[in-house]
Amino acid sequence: MKIRKPTQETYIKVSALLSLAFPKSLYELELVEGFHDNDTPIHEWVCIHLNKVVAYIAFSNAYNKDEICGLHLAPLAVAPQFQRQGFGSELLRFALRQQAIKESPLFVLGNPKFYQRFGFKHCPLPVCPFAKNNKHFLALRNTATTRFIVGYEAEFDTGKLK
Ligand SMILES: CC(C)(COP(=O)(O)OP(=O)(O)OC[C@H]1O[C@@H](n2cnc3c(N)ncnc32)[C@H](O)[C@@H]1OP(=O)(O)O)[C@@H](O)C(=O)NCCC(=O)NCCS
Repeated sequence: MKIRKPTQETYIKVSALLSLAFPKSLYELELVEGFHDNDTPIHEWVCIHLNKVVAYIAFSNAYNKDEICGLHLAPLAVAPQFQRQGFGSELLRFALRQQAIKESPLFVLGNPKFYQRFGFKHCPLPVCPFAKNNKHFLALRNTATTRFIVGYEAEFDTGKLK
């Protein structure tokens, strides 16, 4: 198993993986294709196993008005036939050790059971515009004490909300 930054050639495999991992929605697929098409600054990695792209992770800027206040983790996806075999955890652990990630406040909208084991905790502030009452909005190293609506890159607005 190898972890790499995706290249232009692997983007198509990342799209295929996202379609399979999120079969009921185009949101994640359109989000990532939007990041790539618009050259939005993101941190992303793929997990390659048996010559296949089996997992993908991306982080994009989180904003307090115009200021960057951390990173949003989205999406994390593992190809269905490789789920529950440790790939998602390994890719996330790898990402959390990287220089660009390891000191930044991180936010994620996701299953608390999965993310709590990596240190994420329920995030009461800032306010997530995509989660009613911040349900399932989690953070790591978040120090916000004032109330503001956390900003996302524009690509998050194009898909349907989950
Ligand atoms: C969620 C996901 C990223 C986890 O990656 P994975 O490689 O399948 O997970 P791992 O094998 O590393 O499992 C880690 C733990 O998470 C649990 N887990 C895996 N998928 C889960 C899910 N959908 N819901 C809740 N827990 C889950 C496993 O039970 C496992 O715990 P265990 O080791 O005690 O059994 C992956 O299953 C996936 O892409 N699912 C579909 C897309 C998705 O829902 N992504 C959103 C993430 S918020």
